[in-house]
Amino acid sequence: MNLQRQRWITCLLVLGILLRLAAASGREQGVSNPGRRLRSERVLVAGDAASSDGEEALAAPSRPSRCPGRCTEFGTCNEELGRCDCPIGRNGTDCSEEVPAGPPLQQLCARYGHTLASCSRVDAAGCVNGCNGRGRCVGGFCHCRPGYFGADCSLSLAADAADGSSTTSTTSTSDGSGSSSSASSGSPRPAVEILAGQGYTVRRSAPRIYVYELPPDLNVYGNLERLDRPLMYMVWQRLLSAGVRVADPAQADFFLVPVRVRLSYDSEKVVQAVSYIRATWPYWDGQPGGAAGERHIFVHTGDWGRDELSEEAQALTRNATWLTHWGLARDHEFAGWKAAHRPGRDIVVPLVLQASLLSSYRITRTTPLHPGSAAGGRQPRPRSRTLFFAGRVCGSRAQPSANGTYPNCPDVLGKEDAYSAATRQVAYYHHHNRTGWKVVTASKSYAIDMLTSKFCLAPSGGGMGKRAVISVLMGCIPVTVTDGLMQPFEPELRWDRFAIDVRERDIPVMHAVLEGLKQGQVSEFQSNLRCAAQHLFWSSLFGSVFGEDGRYDAFETLMQVLRMRATYPSLGPEEYAYVDAAFAAFMKCEAHLPAGGSAAAAAATAGGAGSSSSSGTGAAVAAAGGLLGGFNGTGAAGGLLDVAKPDLGQALAAHRSGAGAGSATAAAAGDAAAGQLLPAPRALLLPAELAGPGEEGVSRQELCTHSDLPVPPGSGALPAAGSCSRCPRRRGRLLNPGGTICCNTKDLARCPRLWD
Ligand SMILES: *[C@@H]1O[C@H](CO)[C@@H](O)[C@H](O)[C@H]1NC(C)=O
Ligand SMILES: *[C@@H]1O[C@H](CO)[C@@H](O)[C@H](O)[C@H]1NC(C)=O
Ligand SMILES: *[C@@H]1O[C@H](CO)[C@@H](O)[C@H](O)[C@H]1NC(C)=O
Ligand SMILES: *[C@@H]1O[C@H](CO)[C@@H](O)[C@H](O)[C@H]1NC(C)=O
Ligand SMILES: *[C@@H]1O[C@H](CO)[C@@H](O)[C@H](O)[C@H]1NC(C)=O
Repeated sequence: MNLQRQRWITCLLVLGILLRLAAASGREQGVSNPGRRLRSERVLVAGDAASSDGEEALAAPSRPSRCPGRCTEFGTCNEELGRCDCPIGRNGTDCSEEVPAGPPLQQLCARYGHTLASCSRVDAAGCVNGCNGRGRCVGGFCHCRPGYFGADCSLSLAADAADGSSTTSTTSTSDGSGSSSSASSGSPRPAVEILAGQGYTVRRSAPRIYVYELPPDLNVYGNLERLDRPLMYMVWQRLLSAGVRVADPAQADFFLVPVRVRLSYDSEKVVQAVSYIRATWPYWDGQPGGAAGERHIFVHTGDWGRDELSEEAQALTRNATWLTHWGLARDHEFAGWKAAHRPGRDIVVPLVLQASLLSSYRITRTTPLHPGSAAGGRQPRPRSRTLFFAGRVCGSRAQPSANGTYPNCPDVLGKEDAYSAATRQVAYYHHHNRTGWKVVTASKSYAIDMLTSKFCLAPSGGGMGKRAVISVLMGCIPVTVTDGLMQPFEPELRWDRFAIDVRERDIPVMHAVLEGLKQGQVSEFQSNLRCAAQHLFWSSLFGSVFGEDGRYDAFETLMQVLRMRATYPSLGPEEYAYVDAAFAAFMKCEAHLPAGGSAAAAAATAGGAGSSSSSGTGAAVAAAGGLLGGFNGTGAAGGLLDVAKPDLGQALAAHRSGAGAGSATAAAAGDAAAGQLLPAPRALLLPAELAGPGEEGVSRQELCTHSDLPVPPGSGALPAAGSCSRCPRRRGRLLNPGGTICCNTKDLARCPRLWD
């Protein structure tokens, strides 16, 4: 055996390894597209990331795909519908066609707000629920591993589902057009599971919501990083992690239509989505005795809500429920606004406050609602000022004149400035110089001003305003001033318990009202702000900012309102609290204890929610009636104010009489089922390994916090699960898959749930 020969053998071995490596990378290249280098590189990167996650353990069920050709290779096969969905830039019945690189691709990407780079960027943060770790996120589209499907890859066919029916199902091209129905083909749909093999369970309490799987151009193609108001996507994500989402539409109380609707030109997507749904599923039209489109939910995040939709889209979705930020319930002639909100059918929801906004108002650091803000020697600042407002007054942003003439703003197009329905202009005119008031166009000490004022003016702007919610978070009693405008979750949330509503004609004399309130009334309103703030902030989606645990947050409040809709379809929303003790308790941020409440419920109540003396439904209803008062509630300010918004009662009554047929039986069934629909709070217990000595069974909240303030013992609030700074700061607007409450778990089936 000579040295020469050994060298040769070594050489050959090395060569062999190199050849094998080259072959392997060639295969990878072949899978992706050799024609476009940029893309194939990214695909390789993604392949590495996917295999390093130990996700192979969760292999998709192996069965032949119901989609044609090489669909699962290039795109995602919706195995239920047999629809092949392609990422942007791929086309054809099995996504094997490619839109030519260069200008055609660039144009296509631009149509969805993408650059060429972001169009093909592989980044789990850009996709709904991060594709649940079951696929690769390319430019917002989940390319799910074979067998998994859905916009977030959460779905697969149930193990015992009938295998591939031979009928060739319809396929849709990447622009989602021309999809014909496979619902009418007669073959039964195979059963579908959510997060199969991960132990996903639907929570016991209503509502149950089915999320339609729409062609991707209607929702996920649009660049999320460009989306300033991500509410629809965040709700979509949390429906899964909160256990509200169901795989079987026949079990659903509601149907979410996940289209992106932010601006008026998105109306076209609404029209497309409705026609796709009607052609594909039987639930839009097919509810016996029900109105077409009823129990279907859309989200509109624009400033003027439903009014921004085209007439066609409005008419088409007349019977659906719109979640919007704009609660104008009747026409406003002077401002030129059309009624957009239909009380009892639509729901006004609070804006998702972005991190930048929260930090510019310094809410996480200064809010006096945090139980730790008064601890550690910090004195609460006295609220020595009566009212504060800073912001635009004239629509043109001109400085309003202060020489005693009105109009105090320049005319617009020859007409009096109608910005904010002139509420800001009138308030400025009458109050900018008032002792103890600060009404200005800008303030360098905005946060301090809110902390040191008793009342904060919360007018509309061009449309939806954000001050009503922000002032609540800052412990300042909001003064709303736009006639006919309903605030988030009104009337289920009793704004007349923590806010003052002044009719527009009373703005000139509102000082008499506000300064005439007794200190006791003011203190009572102030003490109600902490619960109101919980309902108005999306804590489970964003993280905690004032020591709240997320249990009563805007997401859960929305779920409770929907639970009431599903359970008592013929009841007006202002009546819910009288008939449902759990709802009444929830709206007061109290855990409801069903008779013989479980230890878990008791633990949770002791932990955070305050006392609840109600036991048994009858007693609780009586208590709720006494505590919540009538809807006509006298309010705080007597004759000068119409706190209860007189027109609202009529609108609600009209809705109720219209709700009539078809819902009576549902109501009866609902009443019978109500006992089972009461949500039970989940116990929040420290795992034994984390509990300190003697701390066994001590409650701790599941939500991380953005605040540095400690939760003082004895404050009734629970210590937070930790700082949200440990949660990955993600690119894009979705924060964490499933919501920030899930940031410590990759498996959304195991994300903390706050209610059963
Ligand atoms: C995809 O293919 C269809 C028909 O095959 C065509 O009408 C459509 O324009 C194509 N889309 C793109 C983006 O090329
Ligand atoms: C709404 O429901 C009514 C029945 O109450 C029905 O006649 C009407 O066609 C529905 N509207 C639309 C747009 O589907
Ligand atoms: C007040 O100011 C406005 C513009 O700033 C001006 O047009 C108007 O003439 C002034 N009125 C008086 C009484 O000075
Ligand atoms: C503002 O109030 C002061 C007295 O407090 C008065 O002297 C002054 O004229 C007022 N200015 C205007 C523009 O009304
Ligand atoms: C509320 O007020 C209206 C008119 O002010 C009245 O007709 C109605 O009966 C009142 N409702 C209740 C429940 O008091």
